[in-house]
Amino acid sequence: MRVGVLASGTGSNLQALIDGVHGRDGIELVAVGSDRPEAPALERARRAGIEVGVFPRSEYADRDARDAALVTWLRERGVGLVVLAGYTQLVSGEFLDAFPEQVINVHPALLPAFPGLHVVQAGLDYGVKVFGVTVHFVDSGVDTGPVIFQRAVELPDARTVDEVLDVLHPIEHELLVTAVRLFAAGRLRFDPANPRRVLAR
Ligand code: GRF
Repeated sequence: MRVGVLASGTGSNLQALIDGVHGRDGIELVAVGSDRPEAPALERARRAGIEVGVFPRSEYADRDARDAALVTWLRERGVGLVVLAGYTQLVSGEFLDAFPEQVINVHPALLPAFPGLHVVQAGLDYGVKVFGVTVHFVDSGVDTGPVIFQRAVELPDARTVDEVLDVLHPIEHELLVTAVRLFAAGRLRFDPANPRRVLAR
């Protein structure tokens, strides 16, 4: 299973994949792409000897053109799974058509609550007592695809984004690594009775 990762930021989820799945059980991270040339995730990839590509929005006429270039780049590398690991861009319909049911995302909230960006701050502003992580397949909506894994954590006294993220990040890493392992092993399936339901066996 050749895996491509898209990341815009720090890349701790990418690092978890490098440490947890890369080079094991037939799984290879073969491409790490970013919209941001300065994303620390790219340096993590380079250190691990993984090819990197930068696709800044400003260098393309529009999002579709950028995503078409990304699709070509990933396909040339034989990618069969794309992981959005802190990738802050929406992917186009054409991108999803190129990788049907082959794109997964990690999100620092319990979807369908708090889709989009800056969701931990949104949770704190709302006053929630329970935070959490969702790993899901990506569809054409914003964080609306079928859920693979979720885990909740009670943090009734949390006050800052950083203290919540300190708890959520290790959970993200664990759930994402497990999801990629199961996907590669062909152990994620859609329930025929309800295609929104992902069976992880
Ligand atoms: C994570 O919180 C992830 O859930 C969200 O973006 C963040 C990326 O963190 N989509 P990192 O760059 O993997 O450290």
